[in-house]
Amino acid sequence: MGEVGHRAAIVGAGHTRFGALEAGPRALLRSAVDAAFERVDRGMDRGEVDEIFLATLGFGGWQIGNASAILAEEGGMVGAPTTRVENACASGGFAVRAAVRALESGAADVVLVAGLEKMTDLASPRRRYWLGVSGDTEWERQAGLTFAGVYGLIASRYLAEHHLGPEVLAAVAVKNHANGALNPNAHFQKTVRLDEVLKAPRVADPLGLYDCCPVSDGASALVLVRADLARRFTDSPVYVDGVGAGSDRLAVQERPELTRFAATRRAADEAFRSAGCGPGDVSLVEAHDCFTIAELLALEDLGFAAPGEAARLTQDGVTHRDGRLPVNPDGGLKAKGHPIGATGVSQVYEAFLQLRGEADARQVPHATRALTHNVGGAGATAAVTILSAG
Ligand code: COA
Repeated sequence: MGEVGHRAAIVGAGHTRFGALEAGPRALLRSAVDAAFERVDRGMDRGEVDEIFLATLGFGGWQIGNASAILAEEGGMVGAPTTRVENACASGGFAVRAAVRALESGAADVVLVAGLEKMTDLASPRRRYWLGVSGDTEWERQAGLTFAGVYGLIASRYLAEHHLGPEVLAAVAVKNHANGALNPNAHFQKTVRLDEVLKAPRVADPLGLYDCCPVSDGASALVLVRADLARRFTDSPVYVDGVGAGSDRLAVQERPELTRFAATRRAADEAFRSAGCGPGDVSLVEAHDCFTIAELLALEDLGFAAPGEAARLTQDGVTHRDGRLPVNPDGGLKAKGHPIGATGVSQVYEAFLQLRGEADARQVPHATRALTHNVGGAGATAAVTILSAG
């Protein structure tokens, strides 16, 4: 898989502030799409869009069917074919992949992809229901497991296997909160200390409050074009070098191992193969850290660390904003927030800014190639995108 005719490039990107409680789903989408088109340096007529993709879970049932028609409507692109992509928390990564495939195949010259979720206006029991139905509903949910519960079990196993303590998880939260504090669009813009993370109320042991991503609102959008057309729109396109995706059994209990995600490994292999590079060539990672343990698993499954070694990368500062391999400079899902359908698109939005040197206070030094990694549920689906500066 992977070798197709054309290459894709991103020429515009935008998103609305995460945690925008006051804005409804339509307003969130409209503002993200407007921001994406505004960022196209030489402008673009929205009539040029050949294909539209919307990533959304439809949290709370705000629009169960035909949600993508709303994107065409709010984005001023009525008439263009529009498709909804739903793979739970990985919806955004898979929508970006669908957009890239449409361009690579030559079927489209210009594609708009957006992600959306509106979550904060639901009461806790409804939130738990809507999050829970993206996991295994036959066994895990019947046993009372939430996503925090599943990742808590995975974290316990990881710490036991590698003889590590909860401080290795807490270090991820401290790093990502520090990054989020520099991101005006982050859900949490405050730093936290290691001792605060360790003393926070338990959610699903060993995971405490600061080990979990929050429940957020948000929307992100990208304007992609065939790479040979990119310079019509900007002098600084960001190229998509490779995409990859994979899947695994939905129920964690059906898998041979708890602490490695086969879907991520497959997605990474395919993305690296199609990009013609390896982990050593990546200068920036946006990893799916829905829980702190997930960032450590991601770094190992993506090939940046051997099993059990990812914790040391955080503790030694390698993954800090000024480290050799910055991970989640926007604050990650942990601090930036996790509006389900928007997350995978917002990771590419962050890579776009970083690769163009437009990430302001959180800009990482020497960003030339970025990898984004988006996971659905507890590892049932995963998508990886590799991007480089033009
Ligand atoms: N990290 C840091 N602080 C958080 C937080 C988080 N994840 N979630 C909530 N808070 C803070 C709130 O800002 C609030 O602070 P304040 O009192 O200073 O205003 C306080 O904690 C209580 O907030 P509340 O919304 O009542 O928390 P809650 O107990 O209802 O929810 C979690 C906390 C962790 C259970 C909830 O955020 C959650 O379910 N997260 C996981 C979401 C998820 O599973 N996503 C899918 C992943 S696969």
